[in-house]
Amino acid sequence: MCGIYACLGDTSATDKVLAGLKRIEYRGYDSWGIAALNSKIKIEKHIGKIGLVKKLKLNSGEIAIGHTRWATHGGVTVKNAHPHLASNGKFTLVQNGVLENYQELKNKLEKDGYQFQTETDTEVIVALLEKSIGEEQINLKNFSEVIKKMTGRNTILVLTKNGEVWAYRQGSPLIVGQSKNDSFFFSSDLASISHDSQSYHVLDNQEIIHFADQKINSYDSKNLTKKKISFQKMNQEALEIDKGNYPHFMLKEIHEQKESLQKVLAKSEKIFPQLAKKIESSRNIYIVGAGSASYAAASIAFELRKHQQNIYHLPAYDYADFDNLFGPKDLAIILSQSGETADTIETVEQMKNKGVFIVSVVNMPSSTLMNIANLAYPLNVGAEVGVASTKALTGHILFGMALAHYLEKKDFSFKREVLQFSQQLNKWLTNQKIMTKIKKTANFLSKKNDLYILGRGQLLPCALEFALKIKEVSYLHAEGFSAGELKHGVIALIEKDTPVICLFNKENRAEMISSAHEVKARGAKVIGIAEKNEEVFDIFIKLPQAKKFTNLSSIIVAQLLTYEIALLKKLDPDKPRNLAKSVTVK
Ligand code: F6R
Repeated sequence: MCGIYACLGDTSATDKVLAGLKRIEYRGYDSWGIAALNSKIKIEKHIGKIGLVKKLKLNSGEIAIGHTRWATHGGVTVKNAHPHLASNGKFTLVQNGVLENYQELKNKLEKDGYQFQTETDTEVIVALLEKSIGEEQINLKNFSEVIKKMTGRNTILVLTKNGEVWAYRQGSPLIVGQSKNDSFFFSSDLASISHDSQSYHVLDNQEIIHFADQKINSYDSKNLTKKKISFQKMNQEALEIDKGNYPHFMLKEIHEQKESLQKVLAKSEKIFPQLAKKIESSRNIYIVGAGSASYAAASIAFELRKHQQNIYHLPAYDYADFDNLFGPKDLAIILSQSGETADTIETVEQMKNKGVFIVSVVNMPSSTLMNIANLAYPLNVGAEVGVASTKALTGHILFGMALAHYLEKKDFSFKREVLQFSQQLNKWLTNQKIMTKIKKTANFLSKKNDLYILGRGQLLPCALEFALKIKEVSYLHAEGFSAGELKHGVIALIEKDTPVICLFNKENRAEMISSAHEVKARGAKVIGIAEKNEEVFDIFIKLPQAKKFTNLSSIIVAQLLTYEIALLKKLDPDKPRNLAKSVTVK
């Protein structure tokens, strides 16, 4: 979490950094700050979101660095906001990540007399660097001495009083871009930097970049040798991050699903035959992800298990319990929107060490999880900016459905079915009657404290994802369960007027009807999400008539409902509290 943006060698550097920070604000929105260099380093910091800020108090400088914070160590205060200035004023520094050994280092520095001004781990890096440079300026040697002491996933950017910039990537992503007129930019993601740069280089882990006299040089921090930087051309289209005419990114991204699902299969002809062979010859296949991506993983495991049995869903944060099971005959399919989720990266690194073949299905091009893979499948749904995953989640599920189809039939006829579903979805999303029903249901739910979602079979991961979407965007307490769990305890939660959402498809219909009756008999208000109405429903939300895709359309109902509840509660659906889009800390 947290985002870094910097502009080096442009007369409007501070404004460019302000605009850049707005584009990466989804990475953390507790506080933000910018440092600019004129004759001295000047810093402006604020708590809260940067989104509405029009003008900075800071004068423009030709070099500026900025940071948007998701607080890890130390409360949300102006003091704790980055950039942090060295006590001798020689440099200022921002960090994305966590200095894991900060307490131990802080204790030593305090013993040496350093007086800390903030509660952050980042100030410990500032203090280490101050100590390391002494009377000198920052150079490769004293900078690398500090780096050697840092543990964890932490990427830093330092602006010095004499107009130099030092960048170091450890774990958390950092990209350097170059503009037409040879200014340089740094950012934590590719999409945000594409506005300012026509070419880019993703820093390798443990790479140092030094900017001085309008030039950059790269070094390997382990042996301090110079590295060649090769810039790649930017693909602007894939990185488009414009809200268009929509009031929120979330709504735009929900509507984009009528096109994005088809885009997921763009590379299927090229990659599925090779992937299918690998799946069929592997000992165990693990499908891995965190949060929504983990529910997508559960859904994919369900689909693939129809074809072969040795398929396991593994939430990324639980891998340690299974670590001793992995071996070179195994395959892992890794799901991630950002490609930078710390839990997932750690799992993949461990699996790779055990020789597991890694297939990454990732949305963000050039991300860590994309680069680490033995076989990379671009999810290709376009930049997802709303903090809650929408089109990436359905894209992942669709990827699994298409792969399961290919494993069974060894053809690509599934693409036609996806095209038909996309057309139905398009009509459904513009059906005013259905949209009004969703708004009315949102209004009803917004007044409740608790709500339960029941699914079964293919729709169980969807019920879990449904509940997550409601919780994180509209802050309502929602829990998803298998309808099979009901009689074994869950039914005790049902009282008069408790809302229970039931997800129906053709396969689970008979059992879901029984479950719906059982909760209704205890006073529940049954909200049926299905292709056709059932007598047991108190409220009915009609899905598109696209049998195979009930899982996806049920999730789209969840997205729309939670979006509407958030608006009714005057919440920002794009930036739910306490969250960030890219979870780069553990
Ligand atoms: C929920 C959500 C998160 C992410 C999770 C993994 O709406 O967005 O649960 O799914 O943090 O992120 P990625 O997919 O970037 O690895």
